[in-house]
Amino acid sequence: MAFHCWADPKYGSGYIASKLFLPRTDMSFLFTVTALMLLTVPAVSIVIWSLLMGITPTPSSQPIKKNLKKILPEHITGSIHELGCGWGHLLPLLAKTYPESIIIGYERSYFPFLISKLCTYLLKHQRLTIHQKSFYKSDYSKAGLIVCYLFPTAMKHIVKKIYPELPVGCWLITHTFRLPDISPVTTLYCHDIYHTPIYVYQKQISLQVQRKPQKELPDGRG
Ligand SMILES: C[S@@+](CC[C@H](N)C(=O)[O-])C[C@H]1O[C@@H](n2cnc3c(N)ncnc32)[C@H](O)[C@@H]1O
Repeated sequence: MAFHCWADPKYGSGYIASKLFLPRTDMSFLFTVTALMLLTVPAVSIVIWSLLMGITPTPSSQPIKKNLKKILPEHITGSIHELGCGWGHLLPLLAKTYPESIIIGYERSYFPFLISKLCTYLLKHQRLTIHQKSFYKSDYSKAGLIVCYLFPTAMKHIVKKIYPELPVGCWLITHTFRLPDISPVTTLYCHDIYHTPIYVYQKQISLQVQRKPQKELPDGRG
């Protein structure tokens, strides 16, 4: 009977499992709980990370991707960094455009990071890696291109913490939100309902004039 039961398709896996381990009602309860967990855990994780990061892992839209393809510089000297790569939506475009370059994606939200990681295996790009860490904690001294789609506060931090580190000539391409206080080299507007702007920046030689040290006053004031 036991062998007959495994071989005969009319006996489902639930039947077999119930004979082996648990009564049928307990099995269906277990399946329901497992299915709920599989849906709830990623959803809760995404909500928590979005609250912590200040942005959801919303992917760049198709029209934006199409325009990015047009505007990406042809040759890049240095590494390519995607700040907050979400579900890896832009990775195929970057991998295809720059097959020889080092490409590094950063994503803190766990489930989007896992999908991006999976993307790296499917793309078979030898020099593409994804890190589950904050992009503020990376080294950009050899960067040639930075790509991002973030939010206003992050853009302010990028100007303060990342932009000064970039080597002269490095490109930074962002859409929807611009870098404050820095003029883009060019801006492209997408043909979507929002006319989403794509801003292209290039790090220039710093023109900051060194201030002459002032004579110190007798009371110690500069
Ligand atoms: C709007 S999504 C953009 C996704 C993807 N770049 C795209 O264009 O399709 C922004 C992502 O940045 C991530 N993020 C925000 N701050 C981050 C940080 N400091 N380090 C790593 N990832 C961050 C968020 O978790 C979110 O998934």
